[in-house]
Amino acid sequence: MAADLALELPGGGYPILVRHEAVAECAARVAEIAGAASVIVISDETVWALHGPTLLGALGAVGVQAAPLTVPPGEAAKDLAIVARLYDEAFAAGVDRGTILVAFGGGVVGDVAGFVAATLLRGLRFVQVPTTLLAQVDSSVGGKVGVNHARGKNLIGAFHQPALVFADTAWLRTLPPRSLRAGLAEVVKHGLVARPALLAEAPAALRAWERGEPEAMALLVASAIEVKAEVVRGDVFEAGQRALLNLGHTLGHAIEAAHPGVLEHGEAVALGIACAAERSEVRGLVSPAERQVVLETLAACGLDTAWRPWISPSVLDKVANDKKIRGQYVNDVLLSGLGRCQIDSVTLAAWRRTVTGLAADPVEA
Ligand SMILES: NC(=O)c1ccc[n+]([C@@H]2O[C@H](COP(=O)([O-])OP(=O)(O)OC[C@H]3O[C@@H](n4cnc5c(N)ncnc54)[C@H](O)[C@@H]3O)[C@@H](O)[C@H]2O)c1
Repeated sequence: MAADLALELPGGGYPILVRHEAVAECAARVAEIAGAASVIVISDETVWALHGPTLLGALGAVGVQAAPLTVPPGEAAKDLAIVARLYDEAFAAGVDRGTILVAFGGGVVGDVAGFVAATLLRGLRFVQVPTTLLAQVDSSVGGKVGVNHARGKNLIGAFHQPALVFADTAWLRTLPPRSLRAGLAEVVKHGLVARPALLAEAPAALRAWERGEPEAMALLVASAIEVKAEVVRGDVFEAGQRALLNLGHTLGHAIEAAHPGVLEHGEAVALGIACAAERSEVRGLVSPAERQVVLETLAACGLDTAWRPWISPSVLDKVANDKKIRGQYVNDVLLSGLGRCQIDSVTLAAWRRTVTGLAADPVEA
């Protein structure tokens, strides 16, 4: 299965290639972009131990001698101290303004390496080679890069588009099942924002993948990327519609920030989506049956939807640090159907009241 997609943007877009088992082509594409320039690969220690030699070998076969730099696995790598170390190591490896950075890993690597690419020497070209489902369907596309701050997630960053996204589902074979399921939360999110067919396709692709049939997963990745690319194309700097992709993220980010390292990003987003679906029903924006479809879809993807136990003063405090807060207003996202969402701008106090109220007084299933 091969899908050649693109994100067209004013001033030039970039190809997004979805493949299964195509490391040689990936290396050839990187070589083509680099030309005579040097290449630095940034990965995390886990991905590098599993797949570094394969990628380096493929790059070597097309004449690219890449310098590898690694960061520790996990969210803690999204840190300015790590970025500073990567700057030092890149200089030691001889980086210049023509150098191509390759982000080889999950969303964490893509965000950190992309931030290095956005800032080092006032901006380097970079290639996203995502190795988690979440990174393939979401974070590698759209150019949001950055790191966390003690006050909250993703508070330091930039918009810096890659020169190429090369999503090869073969890398997912070594992904722990838990991380694969977490990635499906972002697929469900894309379905709820714009493509309801994904709601049935996501659990079906998971089942097929578990049976050793990769085709449906590659198709799912391509379909989910199309949604992301379409939304980003219409609103590159998140002045409007792109904010709909934050469905489930206000609560999800707050849970992640209050309990670092406990949940994967996609797992926290799934809890946020479940809460948003219930709030949408209370507001009369979706029917009880539609809310039930959302919860059942997440559950069929192996994701927990029991968000109530996570509501605590520390989680509610973290919502105040969300980067979508404007003044006292939270720009959250609610469903207005299956495949349609809307921005819900409410005061922080009202948001907290609604969520704590709903947590104490569940909607009947
Ligand atoms: N920039 C964006 O638009 C955007 C969008 C969504 C999420 N994000 C960010 O993405 C991050 C989450 O990404 P993630 O879920 O990919 O997490 P991650 O990058 O931490 O990867 C999860 C774990 O899987 C391991 N891993 C990666 N690929 C593997 C493979 N092929 N085989 C075995 N193990 C592998 C990693 O080492 C890590 O331990 C969060 O920081 C989130 O904020 C960014």
